[in-house]
Amino acid sequence: MKKIGLVTSGGDAPGMNATIRAVTRVACSQGLEVLGFDRGWEGLLTDTFMELTPRNVGGILHLGGTILHTSRSPEFRTKEGVKKAAETLALNGVEGLVVVGGDGSMHGALELSKKTDVLVVGVPATIDNDVFGTEETIGFDSAVNTAVIEIDKIRDTANSHDRIFVVEVMGRLRGFMALTIGLTVGAEVILVPEVPFSLENIVKTLKVNGAKGKKSGIIVAAEGIGDTHKLLKEIEEEAGVEARLSVTGYAQRGGNPTARSRLLANLFGEKAVELLTNSQGNRMVALQEGKIGSIDLKQVCSNTKQLDLHLMKLAQTLAT
Ligand code: F6P
Repeated sequence: MKKIGLVTSGGDAPGMNATIRAVTRVACSQGLEVLGFDRGWEGLLTDTFMELTPRNVGGILHLGGTILHTSRSPEFRTKEGVKKAAETLALNGVEGLVVVGGDGSMHGALELSKKTDVLVVGVPATIDNDVFGTEETIGFDSAVNTAVIEIDKIRDTANSHDRIFVVEVMGRLRGFMALTIGLTVGAEVILVPEVPFSLENIVKTLKVNGAKGKKSGIIVAAEGIGDTHKLLKEIEEEAGVEARLSVTGYAQRGGNPTARSRLLANLFGEKAVELLTNSQGNRMVALQEGKIGSIDLKQVCSNTKQLDLHLMKLAQTLAT
């Protein structure tokens, strides 16, 4: 193998730049050439790329976002789009492709691998941590920490005013972020799409807490549960408390990656190149039982990652 391609796709995640640096430097140390395609799959549709070298990926390890840019490409999702992308790889003599992104990008990687002889390897990077087969994705720890720092501050106001705060966090339709954030800020209530909840139970928890002298509280809600404005109003009315809503939003997607996200980026990047140089395609790099491994892309795309319900129970036990 002489030449590989690299693409960052879907929502950006802190640590994508560290991954670009790791893949490039490991690959170049083994005599490979690296082409970085621009704006996710769009770069493969428009044949737009830059050559990545150990020098031009310098100074990016600590930066959020992705220097290659990213996008969500509707055209790539069509048969013609995938075909065009495969043609671009052939045209440029690319023999292996590293796809850095979330669940949607892994599906894209699998589709592309069916239409090309180029070896395709996925690197899971998304703040949502919702990719099957890996215990953690690049960027998850950073986004969790961003929210934790914010909620610790909100707690000060909640305590000072005896208020209830509903904090809506990102995570698309899954509750991985909300659960980890809720547990690590000591939230009184955690709401995730995977676990049914009722207004009645939320109100009961707040009333029980109030009777114990706990007048303030944090409710961490995954964006995937639905309308948090409406929920806030209902809580105020039913529980008779003063409540406020705070939405962490896109601040969670950006910012410097934590050491943990950088470490994963370095190790995943190294593993991706190792897979390609060992002629192993159609795989995704993964964290499995704390170790760096890999899993068949087909398996990734045909399974759904499960939420650890024990953590939900533990959070309830601890928030007394
Ligand atoms: O997948 C990452 C994520 O930030 C989700 O948590 C969120 O629901 C979504 O992307 C927002 O997507 P967009 O990039 O379309 O604004």
